[in-house]
Amino acid sequence: MPDIVVSNADLERRLDTSDEWIVTRTGMRERRYAPPEMAVSDMAVRAAEHALTRAGMSSGDVDCFIVATVTPDYLFPATACLVAHRLGATGKAAFDIEIACSGFVYALSVASGFVRSGIFRRVLIVGADKLSSIVNRDDRGTVILFGDGAGAAIVERTDDDCFLGCSLGADGSNPEVLYIPAGGSRKALDADGIARGDQFVHMLGREIFKSAVNRMIDSSQIALAQAGLKSSDVAWMVPHQANKRIIDAAAKLLAMPAERVLVNVDRFGNTSAASIPIVLSEAVERGLFKDGDVLLMTAFGGGISWGSIVWRWSA
Ligand code: ACO
Repeated sequence: MPDIVVSNADLERRLDTSDEWIVTRTGMRERRYAPPEMAVSDMAVRAAEHALTRAGMSSGDVDCFIVATVTPDYLFPATACLVAHRLGATGKAAFDIEIACSGFVYALSVASGFVRSGIFRRVLIVGADKLSSIVNRDDRGTVILFGDGAGAAIVERTDDDCFLGCSLGADGSNPEVLYIPAGGSRKALDADGIARGDQFVHMLGREIFKSAVNRMIDSSQIALAQAGLKSSDVAWMVPHQANKRIIDAAAKLLAMPAERVLVNVDRFGNTSAASIPIVLSEAVERGLFKDGDVLLMTAFGGGISWGSIVWRWSA
């Protein structure tokens, strides 16, 4: 996590909002911002180094690097190319996945496919986003939600398959519910667009809220059925940290007790593709996971897109 803490009180001082409104509607109290000179690749490299150290590996042990992000350093080249180079792994396969908050779940599925098929032996995946660089700091409807961060994991082939079930999906019929209007090939960013704020995230919060809960539940149930398990078999639900109310609603409908749902949205807000690996990393640090624990990771994001993975934790 970057060091700059932005509290609800900081936002209150600049905007027509309140700590009470933000906490009641989202459960968020603080989020972190990267300084202007810190790009997503800088955060991603730090997270990747941390993961390599914890795994007792070096970048030379990794065959492929995947970065899930919607805030890449450049439109291209892929941020993963920069990350692999900075880690001393120039020449290895590297690419980005751009599917917003579902990014880590998609990246984990792709990485698992690579190692299970034998294409690669080890894949390093990073979820990293600097949403402070694409959010309009004067828009109280979005700025309260988002923060910056990065998290990483290394996926390797083992005799005992941990990837028990997976359900991914997307619906591009209405991109305007969550998008950046200009700066892509659809619409160039010109002076009028900049004046309107077309370079920033636009979001229909209510629409997103409803579909988030439904899609997270549906995909969780499909992934659990694929694994031949029920929600009562799940030791830990690891949801994307979009909003405490979304997490609570999804957990309730899946009959997951609150004490088995990992939450850090109060301290970090929504960090998009970084949110699941950050909450996973904290759980590992706290020693929460036991060998054989079943994890249910579930995410939802722009696209719209969603995905759930049922994973057996192996110590
Ligand atoms: N402070 C005070 N009032 C506010 C604020 C604020 N920060 N933001 C909006 N309001 C006002 C609105 O203007 C509106 O006022 P009005 O009734 O006078 O028109 C009122 O509060 C209610 O606004 P809603 O948008 O209807 O509030 P809602 O209860 O839906 O909460 C929220 C808004 C928190 C954004 C919620 O809809 C939400 O969390 N949606 C999901 C968003 C999300 O998760 N997005 C990320 C997806 S993941 C990804 O891919 C990035």
